[in-house]
Amino acid sequence: MIKIAVLVSGSGSNLQALIDANLSGKIVGVVSNRPNAYALERAKKANIPSCIIEHKDFPTREAFDDAMQKQLQAWDVDVVILAGFMRILTPKFVHAWEGRMLNIHPSLLPAYKGMHTHQRVLRTGDMWHGCSVHFVTAELDAGQTIAQGVVQVQHHDTAESLAARVHQLEHVVYPQVVELLCQGHLLYQSNTQILYKGKILKDPLQICQI
Ligand code: GAR
Repeated sequence: MIKIAVLVSGSGSNLQALIDANLSGKIVGVVSNRPNAYALERAKKANIPSCIIEHKDFPTREAFDDAMQKQLQAWDVDVVILAGFMRILTPKFVHAWEGRMLNIHPSLLPAYKGMHTHQRVLRTGDMWHGCSVHFVTAELDAGQTIAQGVVQVQHHDTAESLAARVHQLEHVVYPQVVELLCQGHLLYQSNTQILYKGKILKDPLQICQI
């Protein structure tokens, strides 16, 4: 069985979706870089071991990532899932998990990398918005996108209403992609080549639209 670690910084609603999804892999641990992240409560309720590694306690990003790496090794993790983990990872850490680490981002990548995606979508006046799941590479939000969920932007939308719909979508899309990884249906060959069920993935899988 694939052993999964989930890295979090905040509310952990994506962690909850993964817990509720009854994945074929097992979530063996949750790491938070923030001691008051609600995600830690969710892990506790689900009887999943968790650990706080505060980035503030480390002099460098490398030292912080090394501490995380030690914990992941102690749990004998196969796959790392970033679920609202808001720290930039060092190339060394990313390299160690290349092809085995996923992230979800609240935009239709490659559009709107970085922060405040909902506000930026509204400011530009886009019709479509959503979320993307990608393998993590050293460049921020730049790994090849595996799957997306799409929402139509409504004229009355605010950043908050959009965020809520995108979040809802994330909870559907992320568990499905993690399950594909657990089942061995996603194979990372390089940052420009992913195999999905044995075939090169040309376009992101469209998992759902609301
Ligand atoms: C999610 O919307 C996720 O896409 C975003 O943080 C939120 C975490 O919510 N991640 C990023 O912006 C990463 N670049 P959650 O803590 O409730 O799962």
